[in-house]
Amino acid sequence: MLRNHNVVATTMRRADATPHAASLIEGLRDIGYSLETALCDIIDNSITAGATRIQVLTETSCDDPWIAVIDDGLGMSEDELIAAMRPGSRNPLEPRSGADLGRFGLGLKSASFSQCRRLTVITRKNGTTSSAIWDIDDVAERNDWSVQLPLDVSEIPAVEELGPAGTLVLWQKLDRLSGGLSSNAAKLAEVMNRRIADSERHLRLVFHRFMEGPKPLHLELNGRTLQPLDPFARKNPATIADPEEHMSLPNGDMQVQSFTLPHHRQMSKADWDDIGGPEGHLKSQGFYIYREKRLILHGTWCGLCRQSELTKLSRVRIDITNSMDADWKIDVKKSSAQLPPLVRDRLRKVIERIQDGSKRTYRKQGQKLVDQARMPMWNRIQEKGQIRYQPNVDHPAFATFAENLPPEYRRGFLNCIALVGASLPLETLHMDMSSVAEQIAPQQLDEDTLAQAVQAMLSSPALAGKGIQEITLLMKDVDPFRSSWADTQRLIETSSSGEPNP
Ligand SMILES: Nc1ncnc2c1ncn2[C@@H]1O[C@H](COP(=O)(O)OP(=O)(O)O)[C@@H](O)[C@H]1O
Ligand SMILES: [Mg+2]
Repeated sequence: MLRNHNVVATTMRRADATPHAASLIEGLRDIGYSLETALCDIIDNSITAGATRIQVLTETSCDDPWIAVIDDGLGMSEDELIAAMRPGSRNPLEPRSGADLGRFGLGLKSASFSQCRRLTVITRKNGTTSSAIWDIDDVAERNDWSVQLPLDVSEIPAVEELGPAGTLVLWQKLDRLSGGLSSNAAKLAEVMNRRIADSERHLRLVFHRFMEGPKPLHLELNGRTLQPLDPFARKNPATIADPEEHMSLPNGDMQVQSFTLPHHRQMSKADWDDIGGPEGHLKSQGFYIYREKRLILHGTWCGLCRQSELTKLSRVRIDITNSMDADWKIDVKKSSAQLPPLVRDRLRKVIERIQDGSKRTYRKQGQKLVDQARMPMWNRIQEKGQIRYQPNVDHPAFATFAENLPPEYRRGFLNCIALVGASLPLETLHMDMSSVAEQIAPQQLDEDTLAQAVQAMLSSPALAGKGIQEITLLMKDVDPFRSSWADTQRLIETSSSGEPNP
């Protein structure tokens, strides 16, 4: 039977349960913001207000350190400012205009209180300057929600940076950022500066799409214009971009595009490190979800698959609109989202396609390895559900040498080779491949060793009948020749032109 709420309502009493200002404002602090997610929420507001230049300024070496975000956006009238200072200034269920990065009417307050105990907003619109202050200690003392409206703003830090229109958001009493180090001023400044520097990459990543393009947003940190950080390295010609796909969902359209980053050898080390970030490429693969072009979630497959070495270079861009917030369960911090069931099924297919593609490349390389015509030094043998790597004793470099040995040493030599094969440090190799794969490099051979291997290839009975060009082509794809190709080529030339080896 359906319950009739109105009937119940007539049979009950009511009591006042207005939130306790002091405890609610303290509670607002702990919804899980970090310095960078809090800064992003303030910057979101500036972008929504149409700002083209946003400065983040910090002062950590004075008695009362502060952080300010100053924009040249539309600004607010005093009424608008007071409304903006109200926690829950807008109903999250209200539709938002296309460019609006906000949602809950909470960000300005909750993001600020997560980092500081005193929030000052000074804003200028149509030549009028208005200001308001929330000070948690003041709220706690008075235990009511009355915002302070200062009469004189001239002494407030960074106010001189405000232009003809725009808004300054100032954080003071940075108790969270100082991490309980209040006694030692120098140490405190150092800790804060490091935390601020660590946020830089996040800002460059989250807002990169606003900072690119014909009318770029200028985002500055302490006077320095930040460069956009494109997680798909689209400027690099070796990046592979799949075609963009569209998906119509009940509350808006979603766009999906898969990218494969270039191999680390096709990128400068600086770019590779920048795009991989402090956690590295393995942990940075996955979906990059943008809401109105603002990155909200990245470097995760959202539980659809594991972050594996196979898909390390895959990143999938997903674009959603702010009309889909409820379906995606966008949280107040705009730093998490959940895939709606329809989307999950679709993205699972995208992942399968990526995995198939990577497996094919991997298998192709695997096949190369066992392709007898190419004479690999190692064989990859797959049988009875197992994969083994074994030195290829038929390789000319081994075979020729073994044949030239007196018979009593020949067996010992082949035993040594077998031992090397059986003691391949598989676990360490696996660990390195899954954490620092790009640092693993084949050992550079000295001239003598390489020359011996080249000579063995050229004079090998197994390759008799093949022309020098054909043999050269075979060698090009296999180590040790591949990784020392310039030297190998030179050795082939000197040897085939009949000159003695150096
Ligand atoms: N930098 C700014 N410039 C102009 N208006 C702002 C700015 N920051 C905040 N506001 C106003 O304050 C309101 C409340 O902001 P906020 O608490 O972040 O909630 P939301 O962004 O979800 O609306 C915004 O909707 C906007 O009207
Ligand atoms: Mg906001």
